[in-house]
Amino acid sequence: MDFKDVLASEHATRKFTDQRVSEKTVIKVIEEAQRTPSLLNSQPWRIYVAEGEVAKAIRKDHEEKALGHEEPHEDFASLLKVEWDIFPSKNMATMSETLDYFLRGESDTFDQAQVKLFNAPVIVFLTIPKKSPAWSIFDLGAFSQTLMLAANNRGLSTMPAQAFVKYPDVIRKYLDIPEDESIGIGIGLGYPNKKATINNYKSKRVPLDEVLKIKKDI
Ligand SMILES: Cc1cc2nc3c(=O)[nH]c(=O)nc-3n(C[C@H](O)[C@H](O)[C@H](O)COP(=O)(O)O)c2cc1C
Repeated sequence: MDFKDVLASEHATRKFTDQRVSEKTVIKVIEEAQRTPSLLNSQPWRIYVAEGEVAKAIRKDHEEKALGHEEPHEDFASLLKVEWDIFPSKNMATMSETLDYFLRGESDTFDQAQVKLFNAPVIVFLTIPKKSPAWSIFDLGAFSQTLMLAANNRGLSTMPAQAFVKYPDVIRKYLDIPEDESIGIGIGLGYPNKKATINNYKSKRVPLDEVLKIKKDI
């Protein structure tokens, strides 16, 4: 795919179809993501893939906990509780309002998508050692993005979500993830349900001049 088309295909897919994803493609995508740079080539990430019956079981157990209103307890919980500055807070509020407005009167809701874990047929869980500096979280983010671009390039749709990692005990029940690793993020891979309105929501970005400053003259 042309790089500009790969970039343009970046989009959160909140409802996947049941269509099977080729394991060969998933492995290729992860192999390509391995090109991601990291601090001193530390490559702190580990990758655990749930597919088939395992993905289904994780989704089912997650749904039970979410519907039972179990308090999420992500491995990154302490980081998620950090207070947000005004600029990202404002952007999150804008997203929430525009998405609510877009979905008014629809049966597919944002909350439902989270509870169902987007019906993702493949979930890639990414971890870093519990003993990690902030640099490793930076590296994990970079790895995630390379993985998603590689997936888009191979015709897959993606869903990066904190929702996937709300209940690490569920993930550990099915995947052999050592206790000394933090499950940072889950990325859903699959094919979008084109009939789902929620998948047609297009997010916007703040104008470039709000985030970019270039200076050349002293
Ligand atoms: C680290 C991270 C965590 C996210 N967690 C969630 C989530 O739990 N639920 C969700 O619906 N979207 C989640 N998203 C998706 C973002 O909301 C989405 O990427 C953003 O609104 C921009 O939309 P776009 O990806 O469609 O361009 C997450 C994205 C990232 C990068």
